[in-house]
Amino acid sequence: MYTHEEIAPGIHQFRFFDGVRGLGFNQYLVAADEPAIVGTGSMVQFDALWAALDEVIDPVGVRWLVVPHFEADEAGAVRGFQERCAAARPVCAAVAARQLVGFGLAVEPKVVSDDDTLDLGGARLRFIAVPWEMHLWPGMIALEETRGVLFSSDLFGQRLDPTAERPADLATAMVEMTRGSVPVRELRDGVYARLAELPIQVVAPGHGFALAADGSLNALAARVEAAPVSA
Ligand SMILES: [Fe+2]
Ligand SMILES: [Fe+2]
Repeated sequence: MYTHEEIAPGIHQFRFFDGVRGLGFNQYLVAADEPAIVGTGSMVQFDALWAALDEVIDPVGVRWLVVPHFEADEAGAVRGFQERCAAARPVCAAVAARQLVGFGLAVEPKVVSDDDTLDLGGARLRFIAVPWEMHLWPGMIALEETRGVLFSSDLFGQRLDPTAERPADLATAMVEMTRGSVPVRELRDGVYARLAELPIQVVAPGHGFALAADGSLNALAARVEAAPVSA
């Protein structure tokens, strides 16, 4: 069961909680001239996501499917979207594009590199390279620049029910997933340094709650890294 919320003007978070796994999943809509979905969710949830999207826009017009990395919650419904949305095209790092093509899930994804931008018309995504786990495959996260919304995927994610009450301390809940998703400290520091250059107002992770960043991720990243490993 999805709920949704406009977390910034024209940027909508769609979320559901998988009680069996104890994990919430978020997908995002950037409702621009060329609408973008950030993280497609899996095919298991696709019909429910579609119905929820339909409450905000006509999802048939979805143009871009942002795939942060090749995993079911991030890319599982790529094919579902493409079958219903004539213009839908994945946008991702080269390694994810190879998987999408090789598994027959897409014909010609748009490959982006670090610092590339994608103009959606009324919104613009800038891509930031992240060496995700799963062999530290290079993947992407994206910043919507006109509102400063960072779609951070598993970085800053929390194993919390995003449809429930928001806890006061989200940083502690981010430790496990953030460190686990890029399990080498030096590599995380590289990502943090890259993000420090960017005017981030809202962090919109793929799991758990979105939260305000007030122009810099430095304080949040420092809290995540300062927590005890067992946190
Ligand atoms: Fe993931
Ligand atoms: Fe994820």
